[in-house]
Amino acid sequence: MILVTGGAGFIGANFVLDWLAACDEPVVNLDALTYAGNLESLAALEGDARHIFVRGDIADRALLDALFATHAPRAVVHFAAESHVDRSIHGPGAFIKTNIEGSYTLLEAARSYWAALPAQAKAGFRFHHVSTDEVYGSLAAGDAAFTEEHAYEPNSPYSASKAASDHLVRAWHHTYGLPVVTTNCSNNYGPYQFPEKLIPLMIVNALAGKPLPVYGDGMQVRDWLYVTDHCAAIREVLARGRVGETYNIGGWNEKPNIEIVRTVCALLDELRPDPAGRHDRLITHVTDRPGHDRRYAIDARKIERELGWRPTETFDSGIRKTVQWVLANPRWIANVQSGAYRDWLATNYADRANSR
Ligand code: NAD
Ligand code: DAU
Repeated sequence: MILVTGGAGFIGANFVLDWLAACDEPVVNLDALTYAGNLESLAALEGDARHIFVRGDIADRALLDALFATHAPRAVVHFAAESHVDRSIHGPGAFIKTNIEGSYTLLEAARSYWAALPAQAKAGFRFHHVSTDEVYGSLAAGDAAFTEEHAYEPNSPYSASKAASDHLVRAWHHTYGLPVVTTNCSNNYGPYQFPEKLIPLMIVNALAGKPLPVYGDGMQVRDWLYVTDHCAAIREVLARGRVGETYNIGGWNEKPNIEIVRTVCALLDELRPDPAGRHDRLITHVTDRPGHDRRYAIDARKIERELGWRPTETFDSGIRKTVQWVLANPRWIANVQSGAYRDWLATNYADRANSR
């Protein structure tokens, strides 16, 4: 069995669903159910004995020790994190607590469990750390994409906390021999993404006839990857990645934000036309994110060369599926738009005056 942390979040839930669709190896899913965790995303697994959900914090050492002792996982796949850059700007403390202290506590619990394993199980054990391309900082137009050798230059409290966790994972391998692998992935999109991130936010706002808040000039570039491609890459690295290595994962799909928003609008014009007019009439340029990274781009040749992984979804197919998923799941969307969600919108957007 494997221990997944953060498996009620966006990528974690997709990973657990895909994992159990692909094999029968059980999953212990440890998740604190913060605002970003949602058991509704895992509703398809209700009553499935292969999925054991535990509500708890990765910083709770006693709980971790009990989970390792009870379930004896052969691997940990560590997704749990505070993941939203804008939230890290408004309140960095939670990012230090979960992404750094929580990852440290998980590493220590894993190390102590792993150290006592018999030789064969010890050699086969893996700690897979799920990280981000944001640790590498920002690229200028024309710079080469991030390889695994790119220097770490994190610019936001979020990316700094993820960089710190990457360094801890590296050190636990180098110093203690813990068999780790780390993956650094670009921007994901797809089903079950919380509508505080760019793509689902734009879809739900457009459907509600609300402004589509584009930060600054909207020419910041991200490299977009459909979430199930990320999950497949993690399965490959977990199965066959070299211990102690890092692998960059990306979609070979760089796009400026404004183009993403226009694509979402065009799809909604086709799939859910608005009698009031084209959805792109709602695009509103607002005050930029402080310290906003201009461009991310992933060079994903290492994972392709060593493990044969490439994304299968094109952006056209992935974004269409994503819009269709939101249209088909109004209950999931409505249920996450609780009071706490509305408070966040007020915090993040109230003082971002229309900048044009
Ligand atoms: P998310 O915010 O949707 O989900 C995070 C999950 O972790 C939630 O279910 C939350 O309840 C849980 N969690 C938070 N704090 C916890 C704690 N202290 N103990 C236990 N559980 C806790 O995030 P996501 O977008 O699914 O990202 C998952 C991982 O992938 C993160 O580590 C993130 O840094 C990384 N990542 C995300 C992206 C992306 O585009 N979303 C890209 C690259 C890497
Ligand atoms: O690159 C990987 C990272 O991608 C992950 O590590 C993070 O967990 C994930 O949240 C994501 O970070 P971003 O900051 O790139 O994602 P977000 O969806 O918040 O923003 C994407 C881009 O869109 C970014 O340039 C900011 C911009 N944006 C975002 C929002 C929410 C807007 O222009 N308007 C918005 O309202």
